[in-house]
Amino acid sequence: MESSNRERYPQRRERVSFGQARATLKGPSNGPGSAPRKSRRRPTVSPAPPRGHLITFEGIEGSGKSTQLAALADHLTARGCNVLVTREPGGTRLGEGIRRMLLDPQHRDMHPKTELLLYLASRAQHFEEIIEPALAGGRLILCDRFWDATFAYQGQGRNLDLKPLKSFQAFVTGKVTPDLTLLLDVEVRRGLERIQQRADADRLERERAAFYERVRAGYMKIAASEPDRVVLIDANQDFEQVAQEIRKTVDVFLEKHVVQRHHRA
Ligand SMILES: Nc1ncnc2c1ncn2[C@@H]1O[C@H](COP(=O)(O)OP(=O)(O)O)[C@@H](O)[C@H]1O
Ligand SMILES: [Mg+2]
Repeated sequence: MESSNRERYPQRRERVSFGQARATLKGPSNGPGSAPRKSRRRPTVSPAPPRGHLITFEGIEGSGKSTQLAALADHLTARGCNVLVTREPGGTRLGEGIRRMLLDPQHRDMHPKTELLLYLASRAQHFEEIIEPALAGGRLILCDRFWDATFAYQGQGRNLDLKPLKSFQAFVTGKVTPDLTLLLDVEVRRGLERIQQRADADRLERERAAFYERVRAGYMKIAASEPDRVVLIDANQDFEQVAQEIRKTVDVFLEKHVVQRHHRA
């Protein structure tokens, strides 16, 4: 499953090109061949499109993020919604290279600080190359993992100091935060069972259950502290039930915030 998901994200998937920021100068037309005429009217610049929205998927391995994200993208596209699907680590050519390094089972000796900095390097590139331009262009972004994963995995899972993480966050992504986060919560044992069926388990998938218990608890702390942004989804249910819960949550979010904007004209 994961290998086919990998193929789904060569770098990014733009389903429909839409709404890129295009500032156009509108001045009075003098007609062909006419001499330039002075006008009292100032040229006007058409406003940039309203900012887009960022929806992130979070949760431990095997919670169903990648498969649910793909299902939601299909659902939204069928509704005429213009979505951009991306992921972290990765999402860019450079970031996908960093992702391979991060997940390579050969790098068993990777220090938690190295791991953190590689994730941040991937995010910096992803943010500058994909996320920020897409938000500026009014796009609806579905992103597989973002900052919450860093706080849960590197902060709680690896016990790294969370304080410097906050300043890294300001440095890498400024004030941009997800508009909605779907936290797919699954029991560790169940999540690991789901991914154990993968023959090519990566470096992180080989972590011990205790590590994922800490990560899961870290995610729950985030959900408790930001209930307006983070919606907890019970990912122990079967695939279709989880998909339905996600669709309902996102449909409500879109109705409330953006339904007109992310639809094709
Ligand atoms: N609700 C579910 N019930 C049973 N299996 C699931 C469910 N959601 C996902 N899976 C399966 O579990 C595996 C991991 O799903 P995936 O979406 O790759 O998880 P993640 O991206 O969170 O690691 C895949 O084989 C997927 O088909
Ligand atoms: Mg995944």
